[in-house]
Amino acid sequence: MAETENIGALLARIDNYIQERFAPQDEALEAAVRESRRAGLPEIQVSPNEAKLLQLLAQMVGARRILEVGTLGGYSAIHFGRALPEDGALISLEIGERHAEVARENVERAGLSHKVEIRVGDARELLAEIAANGEGPFDLVFIDADKEGYPEYVKWALRLTRPGSLILGDNTVRGGGILDPQDASARATNEFNDTIAGDPRLSAIVLPILRERIDGLTIALVREG
Ligand code: SAH
Ligand code: DHB
Ligand code: MG
Repeated sequence: MAETENIGALLARIDNYIQERFAPQDEALEAAVRESRRAGLPEIQVSPNEAKLLQLLAQMVGARRILEVGTLGGYSAIHFGRALPEDGALISLEIGERHAEVARENVERAGLSHKVEIRVGDARELLAEIAANGEGPFDLVFIDADKEGYPEYVKWALRLTRPGSLILGDNTVRGGGILDPQDASARATNEFNDTIAGDPRLSAIVLPILRERIDGLTIALVREG
């Protein structure tokens, strides 16, 4: 019975129910996950349901230029690539050479190489370059790299967006770890959420995300005017 079963099992069943109906995995997505695993990358990509949500959010704001911080094997990047128009662009930043290589192959297999550029380096430096080169504004910025960097990444995101843009942050609930932060990464995640909540330029919410445990996606809209 749903009400009495183990909470983790119930969350997984609900997540699966949604995925079966709304986020079926095609060959390119399955291959991206499989090849990332084969290459030994950590399996920390967004879930199929969250990925579909990211794709929808990008479509809802009509995103033409997207910036991603933290590529891994390109699973979320493929979703952003699919949300973009043919002449749209995703720039995705990744510190790991091997991660970027695997991601480029996965993106190529998905037929999205013409829209997706993966840059290798520390996001702190790459973001400064992007700003210095005047490559903004972006219609959507997705932050999903090292959690300690989130407070700095959100500052860049604010500089690299315009009114109407979305700034998104993954892993901002962490099974409740943000309620009583015990380590540097939980503290940084908390600081990220507090910064966004307190910034008058933004209107935002944290959306709880079901996985085996509950995580969250921070969704912030850069206000008009
Ligand atoms: N967005 C991906 C998951 C990203 S996992 C998806 O859902 O498919 C986080 C990634 O951030 C890892 O690949 C990690 O190597 C990268 N990363 C960690 N620190 C970084 C940094 N300082 N700059 C750029 N990338 C970083
Ligand atoms: C984990 C999950 C993530 O989505 C991420 O970006 C980093 C770590 C994790 O489950 O450990
Ligand atoms: Mg994440």
